[in-house]
Amino acid sequence: MSAKQTNRKPGEVETTGHVWDGIEELNNPLPKWWLYIFYITIVFSIVYAILYPAWPMLTRATPGLLGYSTRGALAAEMERFDAQQQPMRDKLVATPLDQVQNDPELLQFAQDAGAAVFRTNCAQCHGSGAAGVQAGGFPNLLDDDWLWGGTLDDIVTTVTHGVRNTDDPDARYSQMPAFGKDGLLTPEQVGAVVQYVMSFSNAATDPGLVDEGKQIFADNCAACHGEDGKGDRAQGAPNLTDAIWLYGGDQATLTNTVTNARFGVMPSWSMRGMSESDIRAVALYVHGLGGGE
Ligand code: HEC
Ligand code: HEC
Repeated sequence: MSAKQTNRKPGEVETTGHVWDGIEELNNPLPKWWLYIFYITIVFSIVYAILYPAWPMLTRATPGLLGYSTRGALAAEMERFDAQQQPMRDKLVATPLDQVQNDPELLQFAQDAGAAVFRTNCAQCHGSGAAGVQAGGFPNLLDDDWLWGGTLDDIVTTVTHGVRNTDDPDARYSQMPAFGKDGLLTPEQVGAVVQYVMSFSNAATDPGLVDEGKQIFADNCAACHGEDGKGDRAQGAPNLTDAIWLYGGDQATLTNTVTNARFGVMPSWSMRGMSESDIRAVALYVHGLGGGE
């Protein structure tokens, strides 16, 4: 099908010599602009491969002379962002807690920063919406029922030092006795006082036992939970009358609590290296969730 072309006239474009059914393949030179751009891209790629990470090797790409990496760029960007926020952080630490509310810009900054701190450090125990973990001993931080107190100062103290942890000597501390396990009360007495505790929140109870339980409560529990069962924040002893339960208010759970006691632990965030501005920010965030006093 192809034949050598020989009878080319002057001025005519050279052909490659290929002809199919009378259609010739012309041998036009590449346009100069195209060719130069092509050479430039080759030079560019060589320079690029020398300066930047380029060739994939076994564990990572060749690093390039400039030492650039996307990871490094991200770190630098984050540093820049941090530096930008530093003045606000300093201001948050310098401002008395009860005056942050008067500075809308600072309060907004604190609550945004606090929400981020909460998602990273607190949500695994207190729940992403801060509603606590039902019956897990992790308190709901949205309500106005506080174990240790709901003012900004109280919350900052709780977050700074934690509760019943072993690494912070200033941690909030108290310990309920294990009345059943340690033989302070007989199982019958535990049963009776549980009936009395249930009567606070109007749960169905055995009236005969409630009276007996009332006396046991006065003798054994009132010192911490109060004569009226409304709790004592100085000792982190929960209010037993509000039907808000840390561990649970059904008979089986209450029996377990009074028999074996509970020992809820929260880490000390100052010991874990949380900055003062982050602690204040997250306290302002928690305080702003609705239950703050
Ligand atoms: C490892 C689980 C855990 C983590 C993480 C945790 N907490 Fe707690 N937190 C607890 C427990 C348990 C209690 C209840 C302690 C008790 O029984 O008195 C508590 C109690 C509190 C209280 C006191 C509530 C009250 O009613 O007085 C506040 C405030 C609080 N946490 C805030 C935070 C903040 C803010 C963070 C994140 C910086 C955080 N917690 C992280 C477990 C945790
Ligand atoms: C030394 C103080 C102390 C005494 C005495 C004490 N408690 Fe407590 N009680 C606490 C503390 C502190 C907690 C919270 C434990 C925790 O958060 O892990 C608690 C928790 C509870 C709870 C769990 C409440 C919930 O929300 O789940 C119940 C129920 C309870 N106590 C009942 C009693 C009864 C009944 C007695 C008496 C037989 C008693 N307590 C005596 C300090 C005390």
